Amino acid sequence: NLNQTPYEALGGEAVLALLVDTFYENVSQHPDLAHLFPDDLTETARKQKQFLTQFLGGPTIYTDEHGHPMLRARHMPFVITPVQAEAWLDCMKKAMEDINVQGPIRDYMIERLTMTAHHMVNHSS
Ligand code: HEM
Repeated sequence: NLNQTPYEALGGEAVLALLVDTFYENVSQHPDLAHLFPDDLTETARKQKQFLTQFLGGPTIYTDEHGHPMLRARHMPFVITPVQAEAWLDCMKKAMEDINVQGPIRDYMIERLTMTAHHMVNHSS
């Protein structure tokens, strides 16, 4: 439906919240990622829900609270190699499978998230 934003096509706030919570459950168990994140992922997940909402054409709730995302800069404190980028994407793909996000919205999101994840790489190995 061309009249929908990707945010609406995904299913809006409820589906995005479930996706992000499932994603961080996967992250917390991933051997190449868990060490980078705090034990309590509540605040991390809250910010990611805000970010992905606006990334997908929903309300600009991330920027309203935190200003310009500057995502690459915000990731510089962490060593991110291509291994972490692929791990991040694998956690997202698994979360989408687990909650049955499929079809064009899945492919669209994975395409854009793949570019963003690769953009976060700040170490070669
Ligand atoms: C924050 C890792 C990719 C969006 C973070 C944090 C880490 C991290 C460790 C800080 C968590 C915290 O202290 O709460 C990674 C790794 C990635 C990656 C290893 C692999 C490529 C991405 C991608 C996106 C993204 C692709 C967007 C689609 C965010 C956002 C935050 C964040 C919005 C919160 C920023 C803030 O503090 O306001 N990430 N990330 N990250 N990440 Fe990533």
